[in-house]
This record gives sequence, C-alpha cells and structure tokens, in this order.
Amino acid sequence: MAVDTIDRIIDEHACETSSLIQILLAIQSEFNWLPQDALKRVGERLKVPMVRIQHIATFYKAFSLVPKGRHQVHVCVGTACHVRGATRVLDSLQDETGIEPGETDLDFKFSLETVNCLGCCALGPVVEVDGKAHGNVTSGHTAKILKQYS
Ligand code: FES
Repeated sequence: MAVDTIDRIIDEHACETSSLIQILLAIQSEFNWLPQDALKRVGERLKVPMVRIQHIATFYKAFSLVPKGRHQVHVCVGTACHVRGATRVLDSLQDETGIEPGETDLDFKFSLETVNCLGCCALGPVVEVDGKAHGNVTSGHTAKILKQYS
C-alpha cells in the first residue's frame, strides 16, 4: 500500500474526522478495497479508533475488506430476470471468469456478485459491469460483454 496515496487522500479531505466516510470511499475507489494498513493510517491521522473504522467498513456494502477485481460484475437474479433466464446467464459468466458469486479471479480482473434487482426489470436479464447495465443478456452474450473490459 502506498502511504503517500493514503496521505494525499486524507489531505484532500483536510484530515477532517467528519469526512471519514468520504476518505474511505476515496481509498476504496483507488484500490478497489480497503487494505488494513490504509485503515490504520486513517485511524492514526484522524485520531479515530480502529473499532469505529472497522464498523463503518463492514456496515456499508460499498466497502470491501478483501481485494476486488478491476471490474465489478453484478448479475441480477431478481424475479423478472430469473424468469427470463438469469440463471443461465450467471452459469455462463461463472464459466467465462472461473469464479462464483462473491469471488474475485486470480488476475484481479473481475469480481462477481449477484443482486436482487437493478431497477430495470424490463431489460432483464440484466448484467451490470462497473455500473453500466447490459440488458436482454443471454448466455451467448456474456463472452462478448466481458471482452469489452481489460
Ligand atoms: S429483477 Fe432484474 S432488474 Fe429488476
């Protein structure tokens, strides 16, 4: 972990305790996860107890305490997507990436998650990669979708 990077992020937020969540979000965005050393540094500089930082880091879904891939793949398995074949799409994505939901591949390229609704049911089955929704996905589309991400 680059201490300089963590210090820069903290300085950008004026080392304010009230900016703790924003600082953690910025670290998450920089590294795709919250390394333990980074949390320690934040705690030291902001004079916030580690237990409070750990509580925030585990409470919010936006944070990860384990390394994540460069690209976040979310497969909707909600009812509308399920009846339109989301299970086959998920199977295909698992085959393509070699990982199951909740896992990250060895190259740290993709992290795979399932979600219950992405709010665009009419487009189902829906796969979201880095926040971009791909609609009407079939198992035949998944390789092409993943190929767009390096
Ligand atoms: S159920 Fe899949 S987007 Fe709503």
